[in-house]
Amino acid sequence: MSDLSRFGVSAEEELLQNFDRLISGQGYANRSEALRDLMREAIVKSRLEDAPETGEVLGSLTLVYDHHASDLADKMNALQHDYFHFIVSVLHVHISHDDCMEVIVLRGEIKQVRTLADAILSLKGVKHGKLFVTLPAREIVERHEHRHSHKH
Ligand code: NI
Repeated sequence: MSDLSRFGVSAEEELLQNFDRLISGQGYANRSEALRDLMREAIVKSRLEDAPETGEVLGSLTLVYDHHASDLADKMNALQHDYFHFIVSVLHVHISHDDCMEVIVLRGEIKQVRTLADAILSLKGVKHGKLFVTLPAREIVERHEHRHSHKH
């Protein structure tokens, strides 16, 4: 981390106590790191909402499904081949006799990442799943205006 700035924050005593209790329960050593995480979370959320169609994002889709469900495995396989450009890696774990867990790491335009995630999550036999989306780390700290000017 470079160029740290310090700033003061005023807050009601009760709010601060509740916040301290929360972050100590979460394992934060101090308020600063907890506040930085909240700031980064807010920035990522806002940028993903601002530019829902463009810009590269990173994602992980985690899902649990019954591999006996009719033709689910075939459909899952076909979808992953259709979108192979966006799939970085797939982790498959056989978690019981019937169920599998899969973690699919995605990278690409947010529109494609969301389309693929929705297509997989809506397959019959998928019991539970969720997409996590974030930005490349440099985009969280740099100014918004600069995010499209980087060469890859
Ligand atoms: Ni399996």
